[in-house]
Amino acid sequence: MFDKNISRNLILLVVLPLALLCIIFLFAIPNSNFQLKFLSSCQPPSLSSPPDSAPDPELKLLIGIITLPEKYERRQIIRMAYALQKPTIQNAQIDVRFVFCNLTTDEQKMFIAMEILTYQDIIILNCTENMNKGKTYTYFSSLPHMFPGKQRPYDYVIKADDDMYFRFDNLVASLRDKPREDVYWGKGFAPMIKDPENPPYLVGMGYALSWDLVVWISTSEFARNNSEGVEDIFVGMWLNIGEKGKNRYDMREKMYDFHGVEPKDFPPETIAVHLLKNDYTWAVTLGMFNVTDQLPSSRFYDIYG
Ligand SMILES: *[C@@H]1O[C@H](CO)[C@@H](O)[C@H](O)[C@H]1NC(C)=O
Ligand SMILES: *[C@@H]1O[C@H](CO)[C@@H](O)[C@H](O)[C@H]1NC(C)=O
Ligand SMILES: *[C@@H]1O[C@H](CO)[C@@H](O)[C@H](O)[C@H]1NC(C)=O
Ligand SMILES: *[C@@H]1O[C@H](CO)[C@@H](O)[C@H](O)[C@H]1NC(C)=O
Repeated sequence: MFDKNISRNLILLVVLPLALLCIIFLFAIPNSNFQLKFLSSCQPPSLSSPPDSAPDPELKLLIGIITLPEKYERRQIIRMAYALQKPTIQNAQIDVRFVFCNLTTDEQKMFIAMEILTYQDIIILNCTENMNKGKTYTYFSSLPHMFPGKQRPYDYVIKADDDMYFRFDNLVASLRDKPREDVYWGKGFAPMIKDPENPPYLVGMGYALSWDLVVWISTSEFARNNSEGVEDIFVGMWLNIGEKGKNRYDMREKMYDFHGVEPKDFPPETIAVHLLKNDYTWAVTLGMFNVTDQLPSSRFYDIYG
């Protein structure tokens, strides 16, 4: 343990000069853009969304990736994959969050607290890990309580598996011109489709609900009574019984399971690739989408020889 005085001295030693530096830079450097950036780096990282002064995005999207606490490596691959994807469509806010149930070990509590402090991209639900025991219900029904007082914090909420990779440009292009209410968007369960425009449910790899449907799920007694089951079928059932999700969009072959390693297996109109169960399939997929093409040459490494 730190002695209280020592730690206070440490704080003075570290924080005071930093604060001074901030002030000096603020007043000494006329470029106002730089000032703003510098000012924000002088403040502690914020857990909230972008500042109010930013123009309201045309599309606000929450992607909740349902995963398990111990899958540290997978989270890191997904984080980098999305951090390196620069959407050319500017006016969209896409928040990627990792979602899991209660932590169970002291190691998880330590490491995941560190992840939260570093990345601020984790949501921990009040549930116990167990496949098809209502985790999806808990996810959707908890969200409205996490944004109290907000009319519509997101236009759409996506539930995605952790073996799913989205192409942001195509995702945004598909959602931006859709209605903002009563929307159920994803990939229809093909074999069961009688009416192709109206699939009974969208498969669990990743689907979007407009915010009003998320709120509706959180208040639906039928959904609460029937929260435990094969999650994608059940979500479809809640909506069908509640006569919701009338704006239903099937992306069909734009969302697909990993099925080959040739360029033709990753067409440009791809919205998402699913079934990325291991490092190999992630590496092939990210390679096909040229994720590391910008890697500069350097004296410090020679990756591709
Ligand atoms: C979490 O879930 C448990 C069991 O369902 C419940 O007893 C408890 O009140 C919940 N806690 C919160 C903070 O909602
Ligand atoms: C999850 O953890 C919280 C905090 O430790 C606890 O209050 C809650 O009962 C737990 N819920 C479940 C469902 O285990
Ligand atoms: C939900 O379950 C409760 C208790 O079993 C029952 O009284 C109620 O009618 C059910 N509601 C719906 C909408 O199914
Ligand atoms: C990746 O790069 C190759 C070669 O430059 C190009 O043919 C292909 O269209 C690119 N793929 C994507 C998705 O940008």
